[in-house]
Amino acid sequence: MGRCIYTGLYDPSNPLSDPTTGFRKDVMAAMKELRVPVVRYPGGNFVATYHWLDGVGPKEQRPKRPELAWLGVESNEFGTDEFMRWCEEVGTEPYLCLNFGTGTLDEALGWLEYCNGTQDTYYANLRRKNGRQEPYNVKYWALGNECYGPWQVAQLTKEDYAKKAYQWAKALKLLDPSITLILCGETGFSSWDYYVLKECVKWDVHGLSGDKTKSLIDMHSIHLYTASEEHLKNATAPRAAERAIQMAMSFIDLARIENKVPPTVPRQTICFDEWNVWDPVRAPGEQGAEERYTLSDALAVSVFLNAFIRQAASVGMANIAQSVNVISPLLTTPSGLVKQTTWWPLLLFSKYMRGHTVAVNVRCPEYTGPTKPEWIRGTIETPFLDCSACISDDGWVSLAIVNVNEERDYEVDLQGVAKGDVEVHVVTGEQVHVVNTEEEQKVGIEESRWNGEGSFVFKKHSLTILRWKA
Ligand code: AHR
Repeated sequence: MGRCIYTGLYDPSNPLSDPTTGFRKDVMAAMKELRVPVVRYPGGNFVATYHWLDGVGPKEQRPKRPELAWLGVESNEFGTDEFMRWCEEVGTEPYLCLNFGTGTLDEALGWLEYCNGTQDTYYANLRRKNGRQEPYNVKYWALGNECYGPWQVAQLTKEDYAKKAYQWAKALKLLDPSITLILCGETGFSSWDYYVLKECVKWDVHGLSGDKTKSLIDMHSIHLYTASEEHLKNATAPRAAERAIQMAMSFIDLARIENKVPPTVPRQTICFDEWNVWDPVRAPGEQGAEERYTLSDALAVSVFLNAFIRQAASVGMANIAQSVNVISPLLTTPSGLVKQTTWWPLLLFSKYMRGHTVAVNVRCPEYTGPTKPEWIRGTIETPFLDCSACISDDGWVSLAIVNVNEERDYEVDLQGVAKGDVEVHVVTGEQVHVVNTEEEQKVGIEESRWNGEGSFVFKKHSLTILRWKA
């Protein structure tokens, strides 16, 4: 889609790229800095007409195909082996999405065999012939993408999807029982989510029968993009993500109860495999969806991230969409990278918000105006101070506080902070509409220290992460 792969992370003619692989070295360095644990490929909506066999083997023999999701052309110069190599160089885990549009089950099984096969079989041998002896051991596989949407090539009803996903899942797990299969949910709060979970969260399936530690489906995918030109609507919109996780998790539990899934089968988790700030009218997909992010958007991203930390017991994976250029915190230019406002909260969370979630209870004033979607205010709180906390394995406590109020600071008497030496990391800017450009970085990270005594002032329109050794 757009400039994500071509002229994004893969650009053989650019001097900033590795001359052997064509991978942009500066993009790889940024991904490593972010310690990205998993990357999903090849789509998105794109996958609904993607045939993986077009993208393997000698490059000069790979066919160019019309691409129907964004009405582009796919050259297939970058395919499975290139993606796997890129993941290995970046140090990230691949996650593949299967074509539920024009693809067949045979093709999906072939792809799984190509990636993970160890026997003397056709597609495993094709991989070897293409230069890769060892299997890639791809763990994560998605059963289609947004199959419910009228924008899909070969949109499905929930009944048709559930039937198809169940059959594909069974066959895929017969071929490789070690994989993690991800069901295509919708928003997390729709009848599609309830229905497909009810039909597919099963364990006593032929081929898996009798093993009370295995299930057909391991995760449930949901997506959410939010955006508003009004700052408080924009910064509180990701509260919908938290409610979505809670609701989808209830549907998972309901399916487990109704289908009598034994407690020994691990509880399925949410795979929030597309989330971000995106307004498709402002940045249309067919034109590459290159959003220019403001400080307000960076605060919205921080609220999304806080929700994932708070709901970490339910969230098995969450993926910001996308990695480069398309709805992304990173923009490539022919001569370098622009780190957008949204890059900075992502980097801070990646560096520090690791380990185990710590419950935080906050009493503070709330935003009471209109929200987008409207139902947020009716179903979940919208505090001006949005918080999460965690403790790392080596005993560092990190507290993330987003002050979404653009008009006032909050002075807070924090309980439980260690006295002495507290690290302070702040992301803010002059006002909520500032953006970072190639010429000027108006939003970044300010670092300082605090002695942990008295109260702390959380500045207006800011993200603050406080860290101390427990
Ligand atoms: O990430 C952009 C698009 O948004 C994806 O292709 C699709 O899955 C979603 O609607």
